[in-house]
Amino acid sequence: MIPFLDLKAQHAELEPQLMRAAQRVIGRAQFTLGPETQVFEAALAEFCGARHAVAVNTGTSALHLALLAAGVGPGDEVITTPATFVATIAAIQYVGAIPRLVDIDPDTWTLDPARIETAITPRSRAILPVHLHGRMADMTAIMNTARAHGLVVIEDAAQALGASADGLRAGAHGDLGCFSFYPGKNLGACGEGGAVVTNHPEFD
Ligand SMILES: Cc1ncc(COP(=O)(O)O)c(C=O)c1O
Repeated sequence: MIPFLDLKAQHAELEPQLMRAAQRVIGRAQFTLGPETQVFEAALAEFCGARHAVAVNTGTSALHLALLAAGVGPGDEVITTPATFVATIAAIQYVGAIPRLVDIDPDTWTLDPARIETAITPRSRAILPVHLHGRMADMTAIMNTARAHGLVVIEDAAQALGASADGLRAGAHGDLGCFSFYPGKNLGACGEGGAVVTNHPEFD
């Protein structure tokens, strides 16, 4: 049987670099927030075309912390899509907010911008599009709607590192962009990982 995802094959190719990197970290014995993290954050920000990147422990935490940073709290509504992994909804619920599910565009299979307006209420605080299956949500339309209604946009780009549209990478269109580095993701860590990118210094 051909394995769906063969991480061992990927690691075999990278083994010398991975072992050198692990030895460097172990040798320094600084296992959290060390210089490796800073180098990674700078490289990720540059790759995404964002001013800032903050590494965190998982994609779920990235979404949770992005919502907290954006001031989304109990009773607020966050417009998102049902076509996603459960963590998108969980993160909204972690801050006490209410997910307002809007259907997908059948052409892109991502949040349908044409249906967002009808879901906006006085309690709406944010729009959380999810880029999936190698396709990005229509960020130009989503950003226009968000700006017209004073809503924050948080991109769930957990599965979309490296995707781009209109000359901008996934994560750099909205106010905050969230990534997962779970081993099976586009960029898989040797363990769990996540990050938030943003162009707004107040979120850094
Ligand atoms: C769309 C989406 N959002 C969020 C997450 C959560 O990421 P993590 O597993 O790193 O917490 C995932 C992970 O599968 C995902 O696919």
